[in-house]
Amino acid sequence: MLHGKNILLVISGSIAAYKALELARLLRKAGATAHAVLTAGGARFVTKEALAGITGQRVHDDLWAAEAEIGHIRLARLPDAVVVAPASADLLAKMAHGLADDLASTVLLATRAPVLVAPAMNPAMWEHPATRANLAALRARGVAVVGPGEGAMAEPESGPGRLSEPAEIFTAIAALLAPAGPLVGRHAVVTSGPTHEPIDPVRYIANRSSGKQGHAIAGALAALGARVTLVSGPVVQPDPRGVTVVRVETAREMLAACEAALPADIAVMAAAVADWRVAREADQKLKKQPGAAAPTLEMALNPDILATVSAHAQRPRLVVGFAAETETVVQHAVAKRARKGCDWIVANDVSGDVMGGDANAVHLVTAAGVEDWPRMPKADVAARLAQRIAEDMA
Ligand code: C5P
Repeated sequence: MLHGKNILLVISGSIAAYKALELARLLRKAGATAHAVLTAGGARFVTKEALAGITGQRVHDDLWAAEAEIGHIRLARLPDAVVVAPASADLLAKMAHGLADDLASTVLLATRAPVLVAPAMNPAMWEHPATRANLAALRARGVAVVGPGEGAMAEPESGPGRLSEPAEIFTAIAALLAPAGPLVGRHAVVTSGPTHEPIDPVRYIANRSSGKQGHAIAGALAALGARVTLVSGPVVQPDPRGVTVVRVETAREMLAACEAALPADIAVMAAAVADWRVAREADQKLKKQPGAAAPTLEMALNPDILATVSAHAQRPRLVVGFAAETETVVQHAVAKRARKGCDWIVANDVSGDVMGGDANAVHLVTAAGVEDWPRMPKADVAARLAQRIAEDMA
């Protein structure tokens, strides 16, 4: 469950901080990588050396030192989940109010990963209206909370405020990362980006596809719980969260990767695959000969991935293709749907700024007819398409 996940463990000041060592050990044993950030208070209770030994990773405790080593934004973006254990009243207050005056609070403000807090404090502090309000604000923002438990405290007092046991926190992390949503249990194969068709070792033929739309669709399907294999041509897009990315260059490699990814329930072929490749790739760089004419490139047809997947023995139940046209968009899309044997076509007019841009106006062509969607950000097109796919699969 947690195998291969990156967990950022934020340890703030509490006598219970020693339990963070056991939590880090459990995470590593489960195949996760634990990265630790210590607040100044946390460093009073556990040492950097102990944490580094248990996690096998460099431990960060200073905003400016971390800046030189990794950068607080990278540290905030790298984990699949951020776990604050123990979470002191002070750190919870900082989180609730968006303060960012040390490494821990800065990372917590900068992260987009799900966050789990395991509070630990004296019962009076836990019951204080300020702490209650801070917790309520964090919960409302989607922060998950585990504990605190009741029982004997370090002081001769007892009541709520005891840090949850490491095993309990571990289970809460697993629950936080468990996929949820209408597409849980479904496998989707998504293609994205252009393909590069080599001419010689240094030259290739490509197109202007950025991969923005395809990557957004892969991320949107994963957000609904699908297991997603994204077969991507050469792009500069970051890998969408929770998606397995297979990188390819040519159309033939893309086809092989798609077939290898089957069986799947859903295929969304959003890549701008080159229709032709150079028939014979030169082994050596083509030389410009003085006085000689420019070379003529003989082209060969590439395989059609969408048509191949649509006719495959392991055809996904729903196959969605894309049609990028510069004229009579919908007519072409309707014809393409029939010709390729896919279920839906998402058609767009690429005569404007769609390729490489952030917005898209598409038409969804299905057996039932044509829907015209308004122009919206590519992320919204992706979310809406993923939602439609989930309804179709239900
Ligand atoms: O035929 P055309 O290239 O316009 O069709 C576009 C659709 O077909 C897109 O979904 C694209 O990903 C897919 N395609 C493909 N393999 C090709 C060419 C296009 O999968 N060789």
